[in-house]
Amino acid sequence: MADLTTDFLGIKTPNPFWLASAPPTDKEYNVRRAFEAGWGGVVWKTLGSEGPPVVNVNGPRYGAIYGADRRLLGLNNIELITDRPLQTNLEEIARVKADYPDRAIIVSLMVPCDEQAWKDILPLVEETGADGIELNFGCPHGMSERGMGAAVGQVPEYIEMVTRWCKQYYSKPVIVKLTPNITDVRKPAEAAMRGGADAVSLINTINSITSVNLDIMSPEPTIDGKGSHGGYCGPAVKPIAMSMVSEIARNAETKGLPISGIGGVTTWRDAAEFMALGCGNVQVCTAAMTYGFKVVEEMISGLSDWMDEKGYTSTQDFVGMAVPNVTDWQYLNLNYVAKAKIDQDACIKCGRCYAACEDTSHQAISMSADRVFEVIDAECVACNLCVDVCPVEDCISMLPMKAGEVDPRTGKVVEKEYANWTTHPNNPGTCAAE
Ligand SMILES: Cc1cc2nc3c(=O)[nH]c(=O)nc-3n(C[C@H](O)[C@H](O)[C@H](O)COP(=O)(O)O)c2cc1C
Repeated sequence: MADLTTDFLGIKTPNPFWLASAPPTDKEYNVRRAFEAGWGGVVWKTLGSEGPPVVNVNGPRYGAIYGADRRLLGLNNIELITDRPLQTNLEEIARVKADYPDRAIIVSLMVPCDEQAWKDILPLVEETGADGIELNFGCPHGMSERGMGAAVGQVPEYIEMVTRWCKQYYSKPVIVKLTPNITDVRKPAEAAMRGGADAVSLINTINSITSVNLDIMSPEPTIDGKGSHGGYCGPAVKPIAMSMVSEIARNAETKGLPISGIGGVTTWRDAAEFMALGCGNVQVCTAAMTYGFKVVEEMISGLSDWMDEKGYTSTQDFVGMAVPNVTDWQYLNLNYVAKAKIDQDACIKCGRCYAACEDTSHQAISMSADRVFEVIDAECVACNLCVDVCPVEDCISMLPMKAGEVDPRTGKVVEKEYANWTTHPNNPGTCAAE
């Protein structure tokens, strides 16, 4: 079985699956159960400095977006950082770390943007024996209005300054957690690197309103008739998170900066994708909140089976492997020509491909009187919409034309043979190159 042991910033864990800073890591009871279930590490729920207590709402703090089968796709929350006393958290962290020396405990911190505040809290964290800290520059609600969280994460100069203080007053690795609520995520990552960060982690949650109650005309979750924007996470944010990760991974200014990938990781495959894009490990929140801690068992077995199949003996073998293949549009090969093919045996004759192509795309699918759907090569631009809307996996494929064939749409001869790189995200089996 492949060895999933991961070394991230010199912190060795039995696997790359860490729990992100959130309710699953808010207390000793949870973290012990998480470690028993097999999680490699945790980022403890964000601690703040002593001072005015953090008080959460006493009504609903979550909103959700569902798929047609009521599977949770996106989660929105208006929760703040921990509302438990600092001292209690520190004592619990020290106890759990002592009992689980082979697992990572990273302490997430959010204190005011003031040197003394950091100078005060860092020695207390150091005493716990935790493996490192993560700076929460990401929370989009509640704390940002108090000049913390995303309010710091949106100003690269503040990120650099606070990171520098942390490197000065704390001896172990400093991870800077980035907010996605920004135009160019490379800027805060560069600032973190200038400040001396050992790594960045991303993404924190995305500003969101998941629904509006049309009877009372208030965003949900609603607290006494009013709602506020929250932070969005879960499977729905994975594409945004992976794009941001890839931007940092391929940016020359942040070359070599370790990345911890966060955002919608639910399966081993999600984790492998983040890692292929340059993440040394991944952090998970929503999947654990939806399915419980044991979800990690499938992540571990799935990743290790896949690594065995591919002949990877260590996670390092594939970390960053996809980064060179992330490019700018201008470098895509315009000589590569594919056409859609419909498997008539698999087709259930629903006509979705026809409706989508005829009404909104290139009129490249014909429908006969007895509902046989066929691709018209002379019109097909291989846009993939038919594949995307088809309810039958593998029924429609996008196949490259062969060398010497003439594209009936453009009249151009295909100059060379291309591998079939076409693959459906949920169905790796369709990739002929595999
Ligand atoms: C209820 C809730 C509370 C969270 N609290 C924190 C927090 O205290 N500190 C933090 O850095 N991130 C917090 N997060 C963000 C998560 O750590 C993570 O970045 C985000 O949920 C994306 O990962 P996911 O898609 O796996 O959930 C919270 C997320 C949720 C859902």
